[in-house]
This record gives sequence, C-alpha cells and structure tokens, in this order.
Amino acid sequence: MPLTRHSHRSTLTQFLIEERRRYPSASGDFNALILDVAIACKAIARAVAFGELGGVMGNHAEGASINVQGETQKKLDVLSNEVFIRRTEWAGNLAGMASEEMDLPYQIDGQYPRGKYLLIFDPLDGSSNIDVNMTVGSIFSVLRSPKDLDEAPRDQQRDVTESDFLQPGSEQVAAGYALYGPTTMLVLTVGTGVHGFTLDPTLGEFMLTHPKMQVPADTQEFAINASNARFWEAPVKRYVDECLAGKPGPRAKDFNMRWIASMVAEAHRILMRGGIFLYPRDTKDPIKPGRLRLLYEANPIGMVMEQAGGRASTGEKPMLDVQPTSLHQRIGLVFGSKNEVERLERYHTEPVTVELHNPLFAERSLFRD
Ligand code: AHG
Ligand code: MN
Ligand code: MN
Repeated sequence: MPLTRHSHRSTLTQFLIEERRRYPSASGDFNALILDVAIACKAIARAVAFGELGGVMGNHAEGASINVQGETQKKLDVLSNEVFIRRTEWAGNLAGMASEEMDLPYQIDGQYPRGKYLLIFDPLDGSSNIDVNMTVGSIFSVLRSPKDLDEAPRDQQRDVTESDFLQPGSEQVAAGYALYGPTTMLVLTVGTGVHGFTLDPTLGEFMLTHPKMQVPADTQEFAINASNARFWEAPVKRYVDECLAGKPGPRAKDFNMRWIASMVAEAHRILMRGGIFLYPRDTKDPIKPGRLRLLYEANPIGMVMEQAGGRASTGEKPMLDVQPTSLHQRIGLVFGSKNEVERLERYHTEPVTVELHNPLFAERSLFRD
C-alpha cells in the first residue's frame, strides 16, 4: 500500500492524543477506553463481514432467546455484546456497563480494577437487517461513574446499580457509533464536534476522513416507519402530511422519503447530507412509549446530532435534558436537521391546525385517518 495514501490523515489514536493535549491533567484512561471500544467495533465488523461463512447468522437459540426488550436475540446480538464486554472490561477504565442485551447492569469482574467511567451500548443496532445483508452498527455512550464506586478497596466496593446509569444525556462524556456498511466507520464525539473515521482494512486502523461533521439545518428528506401512521399523534401526522403534500402543500416543496430500519444507518445518512428521522411516541402499544431506547440509542445519537449542529428531541423537548427513570426506558425520538426538528416541536405546542381540515389537503393525504 502506498504510504502517501495516508500521510496526511490522522489515525484515531493520533486524534485522541492530540485532543488530550488540550487537557494536560487528563490521565489517558478515557483515550484508552475509546481505543478499546474501537477494537470491539473492528471485531464486530469482521464478524459481520463474514456473514453466512462465519456461522454467526440467525437466531441465538432455537425456540428463540428473548432479551429484556421482549425481542428475539440474533446470534450476532449476543456475540457483539460479548465482544464489547471482553474488549473493555479488563483495562481498569470502567466501573460498570449496561447494554440492550443485558437485563441488569454488568459488574466488572473482580480480578480487574475499576475505573471512573460507565459504558452503555447497543452492541448491534438494526439487527433485524443482518440476515438480509444490510447496514447495521453499534452505538455507545460514556458517562462518569459516581465517585463512591471505586473509593473503597476493590473487594469492598459496592455493586454498580441501575440508578448509577440514570443520568441525562447532557452528562455524556463521549458518544458515537460504528457503522458496518460498504466501509466500516467510527463516528465519535468527545464534546468537541463530531469526527468520522474510516477503517483502513489493510492497516486495521481508523483514519480521520470526516473531520467536523455538520448536519445541514434544512432538508427535504424524512425517515419514518409509515406503517405506524394510524398510531401517530396529531403533530406527527400533520408534519408528515405536510411533507407528502409537496410543492402544492403548505411546505411548498417536494420531500423525499427513506427508511432503512437501522437507526444508526439513518443517523449516518442524516449526518452526511441532512434529513429528519422520526420514531415518535405512538399509541401502538400502551406499555411502550416509543420504540427506541433512551440510554443507548436516543442519548448517544442525540449527543452526536447536537455536536454536529443538528437537534435531537422527544418531539417536545431536547432529548439530552430528559431525566432517565429506568435502564431500558423507551422514548419517542426525533433527530436531524435543526429547522425540521424545531418545526415538529412547534407543532406539538400548537393546536391541530387548519391544514389537516383543509379538504384539498386532506384529499392528498396518504396517512389521513
Ligand atoms: P435493535 O436492532 O437494536 O433492536 O434496534 C432496531 C431499531 C432501529 O434501528 C430501527 O430504527 C427500528 O428499530 C426499526 O423499527 P421497525 O421495526 O419499526 O422498522
Ligand atoms: Mn438498536
Ligand atoms: Mn441492538
């Protein structure tokens, strides 16, 4: 491989070291943790890339093993969860972990020291797409752990508990995702903008290819699972109806629609070229206030969006302000181009408006009740 191809690009390691120089007191633990997460993502990327040849496709157990979400676990969900744990727990940077695939917080094995961070992750997002060879990804969030967790000698430390993780998204120290698509990418924020790295498979290194990513403030592209239309609340119906009405409608422009059913892939598209993603709270299942999970989907993607100049919201208020109440809490999630997300938030504050009752507009609506 010609050396010149990369001579002008930073590796992820170099990027992290250069960021750290701005904080002379930093210990390096944080960088070590992010590099371990990156190794986990590389390992998952390899497992995904082997597909059927790797013997890792299909459900985790015949007769199906169900995770805490009530969803069938794929073999790759379980394997990816294991990879995250094994690659990060040994180093002494973590006080605990939590994941979509584990009912309870994970306790760092007693043989390892504990550290000052908590790691929360969705080891494989979009895993219903894995058997059909579509893009999936991993999502992660880093929080500080409560101080008392590693004060006592290791053998007298209390267990990490659910409440240790119940911190609003604004407290995240870092967040990001890996994308296992045509190329493997790692997209990361440590609170200083959003930076994208592409895996060079020959070097096995993430190279900085997309510094300072920015979500355009306006868009003509939206993403929503339209099969849920009859369960949406009025402001969401109004928003989507207006997009569908196109040029002759109140928005006076045509919109395009995309739905991959892999939130991490939608987030990446939106980061690259703008757009709005909606998985709003709906009435489909009264015990599920939304489909996506606050701590390991909405908050990390929310931080990435906000750091890139976009916006993430419950539909009513900023996602990162939400005080979590449980580890696997679900929530309505809307993110992407700022002006569009703000518009939807505004619709939540306005009474249902004339547009929905306008007979011409209602004629054109696909999603009308
Ligand atoms: P996961 O695979 O971690 O359970 O998450 C899947 C999520 C998300 O990626 C996607 O946007 C959504 O589920 C798809 O939902 P639908 O089943 O409604 O298409
Ligand atoms: Mn997910
Ligand atoms: Mn998942």
